[in-house]
This record gives sequence, structure tokens and C-alpha cells, in this order.
Amino acid sequence: MCGIVGYIGSRNAYDILIKGLHRLEYRGYDSAGVALINPEEKLNVYKAKGKVSDLENAAKNQDLTGTIGIAHTRWATHGEPSVRNAHPHVSESGNLAIVHNGIIENYSELREQLKAKGFHFKSDTDTEVLVQLIEYAMDKHHTNLTQSVCHALRKCVGAYAIAVIDRRNPKQIVAARKGSPLVIGVGKDNSEFLVASDASPIVEYTKNVVYIDDEQVVTAEIGKQLQIWNLDKTRANVKIDEVDMDIDMLSKGGFPHFMLKEIFDQPKVLRDCMRGRLFAKTSDEEKRSGRNNDVNDNDVVLSAVKNNKDRLMSAKRFIIVACGTSWHAGLIGKQLIERYCQIPVEVDYASEFRYRDPIIYPTDVVIAISQSGETADTLAAIELAKSKGACVFGIVNAVGSSIARQTDTGIYIHVGPEIGVASTKAFTGQLTCLTLLALCLGHCKGTISKDEYDEMIQELAVIPDKMEQVLKLNDAIKTISRTYTYATNFLYLGRGWNYPVALEGALKLKEISYIHAEGYPAAEMKHGPIALVDDRMPVLFVATHHKQYQKIVSNMEEVKARGGHIIAIITEGDTEIPKIANECIEVPQTLAPLAPLLTVIPLQLLAYHVAVCKGLNVDQPRNLAKSVTVE
Ligand code: F6R
Repeated sequence: MCGIVGYIGSRNAYDILIKGLHRLEYRGYDSAGVALINPEEKLNVYKAKGKVSDLENAAKNQDLTGTIGIAHTRWATHGEPSVRNAHPHVSESGNLAIVHNGIIENYSELREQLKAKGFHFKSDTDTEVLVQLIEYAMDKHHTNLTQSVCHALRKCVGAYAIAVIDRRNPKQIVAARKGSPLVIGVGKDNSEFLVASDASPIVEYTKNVVYIDDEQVVTAEIGKQLQIWNLDKTRANVKIDEVDMDIDMLSKGGFPHFMLKEIFDQPKVLRDCMRGRLFAKTSDEEKRSGRNNDVNDNDVVLSAVKNNKDRLMSAKRFIIVACGTSWHAGLIGKQLIERYCQIPVEVDYASEFRYRDPIIYPTDVVIAISQSGETADTLAAIELAKSKGACVFGIVNAVGSSIARQTDTGIYIHVGPEIGVASTKAFTGQLTCLTLLALCLGHCKGTISKDEYDEMIQELAVIPDKMEQVLKLNDAIKTISRTYTYATNFLYLGRGWNYPVALEGALKLKEISYIHAEGYPAAEMKHGPIALVDDRMPVLFVATHHKQYQKIVSNMEEVKARGGHIIAIITEGDTEIPKIANECIEVPQTLAPLAPLLTVIPLQLLAYHVAVCKGLNVDQPRNLAKSVTVE
């Protein structure tokens, strides 16, 4: 939550910072600001309540010169969204400016101490305390900016990713992190540096990035090698990585919203996710042309499983920890692993797991699922699991993110950056990774039959094609969605594999269309929610033709008898449900464990179109931020 970006080099900093803020706007969008040091060493700070475009308006006709600057897009934690509380914050002397993502928990105590020393505060934020503390350290210890940042951060409790500039030294940016993400971009021959909450503002200028560890401070100075310090002022190694992100991935590609683009991306990105991991039996023709020479036909190859075989195969229990949509993926992961690996699996909200003193054995494997790789609760759950000796396996999308770095092993989801706040392609990517993991491990353990293994692999390989078929229903779903913009409540019901899909569909609808929606296992309906059903209550059933089909048809009849309006996601060719439901959306036939990969797509599209129809901001729904780095 909150996005920070900083630039130092020879180009106009403002343009780069604004572009960077637009790319980071998914992280927060209640206010924004920028600080620039102009060629006369004057610090110019511009802020606005609202979006980055509001900042651009506020900064119009101002002095926007300077080749160094920092900027921020905010998701308020301390202090209401307002210009006063927007970052950057400036120190008492007016020399230092800071942007911050995170929370300084002991800020009120520090604030009182600083007030007693004569510091004045202009905002209600925890961040202003930090910049004053850095200035205080600088004056008291007569140290440079880097060392003063180290001093100040040692006094802080909480989480931070910060970037600080000093008007008097316009060749340098100092940045630091603990518990909040930060990536440093290193330009050719150290001629320019960028700092940002993720790589998206950086990749246009350089692919060389440095990920720093918690409690490390970075000094980026033009013409000099990047320096990394630990808080105790000792030096740390600098490791430059190459980031695998293209600028095209960060654009809407002709779609009106990132969410729609990401929904439509799914067939392609799932092929990317499976590439080099899933080897389905190919035709003789393809074999002759050299494909699949090194692997057997029909195989799943995951190096994370191969390299940790003993640990994973001897696990007595798996525990999946995640939040939100990733937790929904975990519920399906449980069914996959239990079925194919014959290992009991528990699924926990990371936020509950971390505080309930869970029983964790060194023989447990904890799977942490996260799109952003920065979710604070999931990170804390990982720390706890590691402290008890469990092996932690990550299923993460953001490469180089905190969770990816904290886990013992794992697999990347590889679906590219997800920018729409409502998660779509990351969910289906997570399901794909969980399926690959369950198949690979089950095969190693011998707990899946050869026939089932082969059948799943063959079917998984064609899922992207079947997704393309589902996406053709976009216009029809758009039409259906118009009817439902009136709704104030929605019930989503599913059974078995489709129960977590019902939860996910309800979450999508509520987060972007602000319609109250509940997901339930269909059979639970009779234990309470059925009381809500009347002719104003749309009930969506995820009812593909699998094991519990007849049972869900009965549930549907019960809703119909009470006047409920039924929308059903069904298997192509189903003739029974169309006689009961008001609207039917058909998805292609597939194996039951893979059905969620198809059934979730109409629900994503439905939520999207209802929100668009209501004129809402689909990519940036109110009160939400893409990565939840506070608990
Ligand atoms: C919903 C959504 C959230 C996230 C949750 C976890 O559309 O995006 O519920 O799934 O905040 O985030 P990650 O996966 O980044 O840990």
C-alpha cells in the first residue's frame, strides 16, 4: 500500500516520476505528491488529494525542473487523505524530503520527543516523524544522509520503504526498507538510478535491478557504485539482477481497463506459467520436429520439487497460508494435494494463522500463496512457520518480492504483472501452479495412478484453449450483467471444486461493484442463507456437470421455489439446468479438478461488467490497494 518512486540522473525527473506513479497507482490512490530539487538547489514540493492526474493538474505551470526527485501515491494509514498528509514530507529546516510506504508504529512517542526538542509538525502522519528524526540525527551526530538514516531507523519500530533526498546534495538519493518492498534500478555506468516499490517504473530505463534486504540502507549517487549498508553501518554486498518484465506488460494493450486485459490475458499467461513445466504427449509429427526431446511424454517437471524431494515427500502435513483471492486458490490447492498426494492439508488465513499460536511441526510444509509477494500477514505467517522449523514453499507472482525471498523454495506463477486491483489472472495462475505441484509430487510419491496423471496432464495442456472459448462469451455476459446492476445483494453457491470459485466470484463482485455478495457451499444454503432468498435476490450457481451435479440441481430448485433469480454456470450441452435457471452461461467440459480454471472466468467478467455498468472505477476500487503491506 502506497507506492514510492525516486529518480536521479540526467533526465527530467518529474516526467519519470509521474510515469512511475501512474504505474504504481494500483498501490494506493487517495493522494499523491512529488519533490524535486531544481538546478538552483531549491526543493519544490507539489501535492494533491486524489489521483496522480490530480497531482499533474496541481503541478501545472510550476517549476518542474530538476534531475533528482522522489514521489508518492498514498493509501492512507495515519491521517485522512488530504494535501496536508500527502507525501513527500519535508524536515523542519526544509532541506530533506521523504516518501514512505509502511507504518512507523512508535511514531507518537517519537513525535513527542521531537516536539520537546523544538520540531514542529505540519501533518498527522507517522512519516513526518521519520524525516524530522533523520534531520535530528544529522544535526546531532554531524553525519551524512546515509548514516543519519541508519541512526533514525534504528529508533523506529514498524515497516518502511523510504526514499530521502537532501536539497544540499542533489547527486544522491538514500533509500531503505524493512517489511515493505523496494527495488533499485541501476542505469548504465551508474549514470542514473531509480528506486521504486516495484520494478514497473524502472524497466523502461534499465533492466538491472538490486533487491535489498530488510533493515538495509542504499546510497545511490551519480557516477558511483551503489552502496548498501546494514543498519549497524556495516557494508553489505550489492547483487545486480536482471528483471524479466517488458514495458508492454504494463500497458492496457487496447483494453479499456487493466482488469479486462488481465482477464483476457489468461490463456496466454497460463501457457507461460506451464511452459517448461508441463509436457503433454505430443503428436509424432511434433516429436520428429524435435519438441520434447529431453523429457518423457506426459510429465510435470518442477525443479523446486526435484531439489527438495526428500523434504516434500516426507511431509506429514501441508498448511496453506494466504489472504483473499490467494486463500481461495489455497482451498482448491487443498483438494488437489489431498487427492493426488494423499497428504492432509490445512488452509488458513495468514492473518489468523500468525496470531493463533498454531501447532507447527518440523515435518510440516507450509505453502504461502501470494500474487504481490508483499502481503504483510502472509510474510509474518512465513516467519512463524520458519521459526518452528517447517519448510516453506512459495507460490508467488512478483519476482524478487519479499515472500519469494523469504521462502525456502517454491515456484513463480509467471503470469506477468497484475495491475488491476481485483485479482484475476493471478488466481488462475495460482491454481495452475497448485495443480502442477500436486501432480508432480503425487507422481513422485506414487499416489496418483498413471492413467489419472496422464489424463490430467493432457487436459491441463488444453485448458488455455478452453479458456479462449469461455472468453468468447464476453458480450453475452455483458448483456446479462445489465440486469444485475440493480441488485444490492447476491448469493454465490458452488459445491466441491466449485465452492471456492463461488467465494471468489462473490469477492470479485463486492470489491469492484460494491454489491454485497456472499459465497457459500451450496448445501449450506439451507442452514441459513436461504432466508434471504426472494425475488430481489440473484443467486449464482457454479454448477458444472460433475460429481455433485444432481445435488446442486436440487439446491437450485429450492431457490426457484422461493422466487430467487438464478444465474448458472453450467457445462456445455447441459439440458437440465436451463429449464430451471433464468440465465445460463456455458463453459466447455473438463475434468472436475480443473473446472475452476474455466468457471471463474464468467464470474470475473460478470463482476467487471456490472461495475462498468455502474460507472465505477474498476481498476482502482475505493478503499482497496493492490498489495496489503500493513496488517
Ligand atoms: C482480491 C485481491 C485480494 C488479494 C489479497 C492477497 O481481488 O486481490 O484479496 O488476493 O490481498 O494478496 P496477495 O496475493 O498479493 O498476497
